[in-house]
Amino acid sequence: MNILNNFSLKKYNTFGIEAKAKQFVAVKTTEELKTIVKENLAKPKFILGGGSNMLLTQDIEALVIHIDLKGKKVVKEDNDFVWVESMAGENWHEFVLWTINQNFGGLENMSLIPGNVGTTPVQNIGAYGTEIKDTFASCEAMNIATQEMKTFTKEACHFGYRESIFKHEVKDQYIITSVVFKLTKSNHKINTSYGDITKELDKQNVITPTLKDISNAVIAIRQSKLPDPAALGNSGSFFKNPIISKVDFDKIHALHPEMPHYVVSATEVKVPAGWLIERAGFKGKRFGDAGIHKNQALVLVNYGNATGQEILNVSKDIQDTILKEFGIAIEAEVNVI
Ligand code: EPU
Repeated sequence: MNILNNFSLKKYNTFGIEAKAKQFVAVKTTEELKTIVKENLAKPKFILGGGSNMLLTQDIEALVIHIDLKGKKVVKEDNDFVWVESMAGENWHEFVLWTINQNFGGLENMSLIPGNVGTTPVQNIGAYGTEIKDTFASCEAMNIATQEMKTFTKEACHFGYRESIFKHEVKDQYIITSVVFKLTKSNHKINTSYGDITKELDKQNVITPTLKDISNAVIAIRQSKLPDPAALGNSGSFFKNPIISKVDFDKIHALHPEMPHYVVSATEVKVPAGWLIERAGFKGKRFGDAGIHKNQALVLVNYGNATGQEILNVSKDIQDTILKEFGIAIEAEVNVI
């Protein structure tokens, strides 16, 4: 294990922002991880997974530990289900394809989400009607202070919309090293509840979709709306879809009856931030090298050499405008560093 000094993180964040780590090390095994953490207990540390959900607005004055743990395997099965374990450093989409190729069901709607497996529970990633929590069985994590391993069950993770215990109660205390998913072996629960998926399957003349068909439909939808980080720096949805009170919603809806919305509970309604941003006139706009994607207003992009600060300024401008125009506060989904 080589600790590198003054290391560029440009290739380690999907926004493609140029920022430096004071120190950087990549760990390939849990033992290496334990050793490096133990030997550097007093130093400030920053844990880096796939770098797909963060905006770097400054250099990181810490030891950056890149989780590069690899491996995936079936750990248990019964007649109906299979429990599959993936190490934290596996690329999420490659892992999803690996499960589909073996006809294991449950992750197909989350095809092509950027990032690594280890960070998926942190914000309970989700797309097209499915969230991690629907198939998550447990994860292993290392306590940074003691280097002891702990198993977190699904119940222990306190999953919510883009939320988990790892963002709150135990924030910065654990490093997730592997995740186990409980997937179906047969009688798959094909989820076409999301309108875009049915439209895409119709387009492809698919009547009884397989896991692969769903995955292909999701890939086609995502590719048509969301920029590929390898071609255009981005971090997926920059904002969360705001959940507002029914009282506030009714007032805004009366002024904008065409506003899409999803009822969350008797008292709460979720509104798509992408729609608000588009309505506020930001979709496709560019400010220097920072901009708002032309096909999905929820995604901020780096056209080349934007700094994190420039992207952050655009995001603040969007937040201020939406607050003024609609009275709705929208929150960043990505971690601003
Ligand atoms: N919309 C607009 N303009 C836009 C974007 C969206 O009017 O520029 C409208 C759409 O017409 C639609 C509604 O907003 O009526 C919702 O749009 P979409 O179905 O594209 O989903 P989203 O709410 O924008 C969420 C997730 C995505 C996920 C999709 C599909 C969040 C913050 N984002 O986006 O997740 O892929 O649903 O399930 O919940 C991510 O987290 O990085 C991500 C891409």
